[in-house]
Amino acid sequence: MGNNWSLAMERMEATRRKFADIIGAEPDEVAVLPSASDAISSLATSFSYQQGKNKIVCTELDFPTVGHIWLAQRKFGANVSFIRSSNEMICAEQYEKEIAHDTLLTCVPHVCYYNGYKQDLREIADIVHSKSSLLFVDAYQSAGHIPIHVKEMDIDILVAGTRKYMLGIPGVAFLYIKKNLAERMEPRVTGWLGQKKTAMFDICKIAPEVGARRFETGTPSFISMYAAHAALELLHNVGVHNIYAYLQEVTRFALAYGREKGLCISGPQSAEYRSSLISFYVGNASEVEMRLKEKNIVVSARKDVIRIAPHFYNTKEEIKYAIDELIALINSR
Ligand SMILES: Cc1ncc(COP(=O)(O)O)c(C=O)c1O
Repeated sequence: MGNNWSLAMERMEATRRKFADIIGAEPDEVAVLPSASDAISSLATSFSYQQGKNKIVCTELDFPTVGHIWLAQRKFGANVSFIRSSNEMICAEQYEKEIAHDTLLTCVPHVCYYNGYKQDLREIADIVHSKSSLLFVDAYQSAGHIPIHVKEMDIDILVAGTRKYMLGIPGVAFLYIKKNLAERMEPRVTGWLGQKKTAMFDICKIAPEVGARRFETGTPSFISMYAAHAALELLHNVGVHNIYAYLQEVTRFALAYGREKGLCISGPQSAEYRSSLISFYVGNASEVEMRLKEKNIVVSARKDVIRIAPHFYNTKEEIKYAIDELIALINSR
């Protein structure tokens, strides 16, 4: 078939539509990009950081890339501050206190990558908007297993990649931007695929595409697009609401069983404020991760915790097995 460009681009459009559908957005509000870090970096180039509206508020619970990218904008005028967590959570009063009228953007993770803490986005959105700031949500650890509706939650900008709970492979991430907001943005990271059709092949013209599409740059990884499309179709067929309901049950079980076995859980102790991602404190987490892998138990070491991240295909028996093996390892050292 040679280079079947149109077939691949159609697959990219179908992938965009599927993700838009999962978060309650319009396809034009979604850009398809190679990674969450690329998406946030491009976003950062579309602000002018004028004095009086140049503060970027992040949280200590954000994924490190978020902090790195905003700190790199300080030389362009960004003033970056971090909300510290207390007991590895952040309460509404802390947002109230830190966000001010000079806050351009407030960045929050929907679910914390480290301990599974899940935040109430609607409550945060109301605080952020009352200070005329924009809300940026990193949904990398929630999209695919926790329902998200960007309109109902009043989210301005959201990023998510397919490599975690969306079950894809590296190479595809999404940037959602509210349509009327995106139309006012002109990212300095751009390319021919971020232009309107009329300007795509005109080297002397720049005409940003509609909505978030203007954030796209060059040829995407087609193979990752096929994987992303298949993964999103699977999630769509199972249903994110069904996945969430099942995983809450699994989470309650994992919390109770872990506690019963004497493990110490990071972050909130009740299923209501967390995702199915559960972190147990252990000494030498990297070694424990490696040893569990030898037993076919796939978990992640993050700083001082072992993180288990079940999805809809995992059973309570598997969680029990993982916790039992974790305890056996701890006791053998
Ligand atoms: C919450 C969160 N945000 C951002 C990222 C970074 O994503 P990427 O590697 O696509 O830039 C990750 C990766 O694990 C993540 O867990």
